[in-house]
Amino acid sequence: MENQVIFAWAIIFCLAVAPVYGQYYSRTVRAGPRVEKITRLHFFFHDIRSGENATAIPIASPNTTQDTPTYGTLYAMDDPLTMESELTSTLIGNSQGLYLDLSRERTKFTAIFYADFAFTTGRFNGSSFSLFSRFSAEDATSTIREMAIVGGRGAFRMATGFALLRPTWSNTIGDAIVEFNVTLYHY
Ligand SMILES: *[C@@H]1O[C@H](CO)[C@@H](O)[C@H](O)[C@H]1NC(C)=O
Ligand SMILES: *[C@@H]1O[C@H](CO)[C@@H](O)[C@H](O)[C@H]1NC(C)=O
Ligand SMILES: *[C@@H]1O[C@H](CO)[C@@H](O)[C@H](O)[C@H]1NC(C)=O
Ligand SMILES: *[C@@H]1O[C@H](CO)[C@@H](O)[C@H](O)[C@H]1NC(C)=O
Repeated sequence: MENQVIFAWAIIFCLAVAPVYGQYYSRTVRAGPRVEKITRLHFFFHDIRSGENATAIPIASPNTTQDTPTYGTLYAMDDPLTMESELTSTLIGNSQGLYLDLSRERTKFTAIFYADFAFTTGRFNGSSFSLFSRFSAEDATSTIREMAIVGGRGAFRMATGFALLRPTWSNTIGDAIVEFNVTLYHY
């Protein structure tokens, strides 16, 4: 009797998850309840545009606007993430993606970032979160900015969350070190 009940449930489960033959989609079923978890991360991001080992390089720019020379410049980046603010401190991952410089004023950097922040060490080795957000221009470089996190891979699959960040160092070439406090909601 008990075996029959288990068998019946197994059949129902298979019917619920198996793709419908002859179609490109499965049946739509109610997702089970999931427990949301919170993980907080703290690290430093190094965006290096100068020198032979630049980690962010311009890959396209318009040749129209002389008043705002960086407006519309698209950068490819593979920026290291470290434990402490020094680039020589423990490397924990990298941020790969693109950012589009939209600074209309020479003195204020503003951009849209499309990036995957992946970790290569520790408990979250192999996991990443996806950031898609605006880095807003502010009067003071030390002002805390907020950026949106829209997804993730591995332990951070389907993550949402936010990053609070503040440049801790920058120069006139555009090299910068940014401190990140990230809050991720995931399953
Ligand atoms: C660039 O990287 C190479 C290889 O890691 C290193 O030998 C060189 O000193 C670096 N150059 C600068 C300017 O940091
Ligand atoms: C881009 O720059 C070149 C060389 O200066 C010029 O000939 C061309 O007209 C420019 N294109 C636009 C769309 O302004
Ligand atoms: C991180 O994961 C990769 C791939 O699984 C593995 O090769 C590497 O040794 C791991 N690194 C650390 C520090 O655990
Ligand atoms: C990150 O959190 C630490 C510890 O709470 C705090 O000292 C630091 O100011 C925060 N930085 C940012 C950019 O939020």
